[in-house]
Amino acid sequence: MNTKGKILVTGGTGYIGSHTTVELINQGYEVLIIDNLSNSEAFIIDRIEQITGIRPKFYEFDLLDQSRLSSFFEENPDLKGIIHFAAAKAVGESVDIPLHYYRNNLVTMINLLEGMKQHKIENFVFSSSCTVYGQPDKLPVNEHAPIKPAESPYGYTKQVNENILKDTIGSGAAIKGIALRYFNPIGAHDSGLIGELPRGVPNNLMPFITQTAYGIREQLRVFGDDYNTPDGSCIRDYIHVVDLAKAHIVAIERLIQHNNKNNFEVFNIGTGNGFSVLEVIHSFEKTTGIKLNYKIVGRRAGDIEQIWADTTIGNQELGWKAERSIDEMSLSAWKWEQNYRNTKQ
Ligand code: WQD
Repeated sequence: MNTKGKILVTGGTGYIGSHTTVELINQGYEVLIIDNLSNSEAFIIDRIEQITGIRPKFYEFDLLDQSRLSSFFEENPDLKGIIHFAAAKAVGESVDIPLHYYRNNLVTMINLLEGMKQHKIENFVFSSSCTVYGQPDKLPVNEHAPIKPAESPYGYTKQVNENILKDTIGSGAAIKGIALRYFNPIGAHDSGLIGELPRGVPNNLMPFITQTAYGIREQLRVFGDDYNTPDGSCIRDYIHVVDLAKAHIVAIERLIQHNNKNNFEVFNIGTGNGFSVLEVIHSFEKTTGIKLNYKIVGRRAGDIEQIWADTTIGNQELGWKAERSIDEMSLSAWKWEQNYRNTKQ
């Protein structure tokens, strides 16, 4: 099958990785997935095939396993690039088990970059996060804003990994890299076949909303309404996961086609619009017609008050712009929750 070439997606059975795999396949790439299934399920591969008609080749192993990774690179000398999602990502959990987060998120990054150098793979897109900004002094926040001390080991691994990538490139390695700083990804593919699949009690807002609406959770707690925001609840820049996935295609093609301006680049991937927790709840209720059972409780430790992206550089340089609305995000999240529960594996 003649394709545009092979792209490795690490963490490809995960939430953003699976949506990016679908978009890559739709754009004519052959996708290889490495995932250890520590926070995702193998049936997502079937769902990707169901959506695209093409089954990505799936390698189940941990990126900490250097010999397995080396064999993978030897088996695939013609990789056009790597999009690296695989990481532990729960803010609260990272405070409880920091050593796991530091080993898992940093050593896997080092292993990948060493493999790229050895096997002459040039193009690397890294899944970073707006969490590197902490609470910005000025909003909207742009890519030149100062990096603040991380609020959690998770956030710190994102900062360190950006520097590991930048310093590896700066040392003269034949690697070009782009770090995409995501804001808050929510929603699901229009098919309702893939979506966010948190293990246990969700940390993030939207899966907690949809599980409450479905009746799995008794009540949604809103962590504080005494912030210095219009309705008192925290503001975030929520972005539809499909818009986010499409940004990865633009980024990896920027590198493959040598359109990058520097060998290390950083882009905010958000919508540029901020919505409060209560506004997200109202969007969900309006679009689904479901009254949500929620209660205002105290603030959650580690939460910043408000953040949303200055998307100017990303829009101009990448020629990419988020298109989907907050209502489409709510509705697609709800459709996925219903489909997943009704066809539970
Ligand atoms: C959003 C808002 C909560 C749950 C983190 C990471 C980020 C990314 C996404 C990994 C906050 C409020 C939440 C709930 C609530 N990481 N909330 N009740 O914390 O902005 O970002 O997750 O994927 O890097 O930093 O996302 O969805 O947890 O919270 O009121 O039950 O919703 O207080 O204001 P967050 P979130």
